Amino acid sequence: MGESIGILSIKGGVGKTTTTVSLGAAIAQQGKNVLLIDGNFSAPNLGLHLGIVQPEVSLYDVLKGKANALGAIQETDYGFDIIGGRLNMKKIFYPDYLKLKQKIQHLKYHYDVILIDSSPTLDHETLAAMMASDKLLIVTTPDHATLSCTLHAVKVAKKKKVPIAGIILNRVYGKKFELSLEQIEKMTGVPVLAVIPHDVNILEALSELKPSTFESKETDAVVEYKKLAAFLIGESYEDKRFSTKLKNLFSSKVPKQEVNRQVEHKKHRIKHK
Ligand SMILES: Nc1ncnc2c1ncn2[C@@H]1O[C@H](COP(=O)(O)OP(=O)(O)OP(=O)(O)O)[C@@H](O)[C@H]1O
Ligand SMILES: [Mg+2]
Repeated sequence: MGESIGILSIKGGVGKTTTTVSLGAAIAQQGKNVLLIDGNFSAPNLGLHLGIVQPEVSLYDVLKGKANALGAIQETDYGFDIIGGRLNMKKIFYPDYLKLKQKIQHLKYHYDVILIDSSPTLDHETLAAMMASDKLLIVTTPDHATLSCTLHAVKVAKKKKVPIAGIILNRVYGKKFELSLEQIEKMTGVPVLAVIPHDVNILEALSELKPSTFESKETDAVVEYKKLAAFLIGESYEDKRFSTKLKNLFSSKVPKQEVNRQVEHKKHRIKHK
């Protein structure tokens, strides 16, 4: 049986949808059956990142009881399937935010991994995505304003008893004025599992309506997404780039997010022995 992973942040524009499609394609490339669900009911745009404008059957129809979730699935050219949203879905969630969980539960028999993109607003739609997830990845950027939203997201997830797998630190420029990984971990108490640099290729991929990890140049951001994808399915991804090999010759320092992935991996193995 597969698992559902919510991609969350209570802040707009930090990279939830980008992460959902990039991770989706990377997990699919590593041989798993993957489904992406648009849980952003106020402004569904998962499909828009992939050139799918208005799905014939959407999540709206599923939640309204007009269609089965299996009937809303669309194939994409990127190795994964999606269930897209439709504008103005928001109101159907109030007050029953557990509906999403119930409606998609059976899909775990068909998919290894279900990624749920979510809305930046802290209301019933974010709660719907949160409660439909077996675990969460919280996306943040390295600035104080976003961190305060991230702290809030962590607090709500803990209150709702939804496990947080870790944090994805996105759009990192590597500047001194940015919050460091260590500061973010100290403030949130949650391990950072991936550090995705700001990468213009990600913007280019979006302009081409394809995931940044699909048949594209292996930039640091793409490799980091692939490593995170491998981690999520209990595998590891080897960075075979010449530039990395060269860098490793001069420095033996393992990035903290890499250490975190190894630690979490071991913990998981011990738990399932
Ligand atoms: N690592 C990155 N490098 C460069 N651009 C990025 C990166 N991550 C995201 N972006 C860009 O940032 C913009 C916002 O990303 P995205 O739509 O994924 O955010 P979001 O959190 O889903 O936003 P919303 O809350 O509005 O749904 C997009 O143009 C995307 O291409
Ligand atoms: Mg989005």
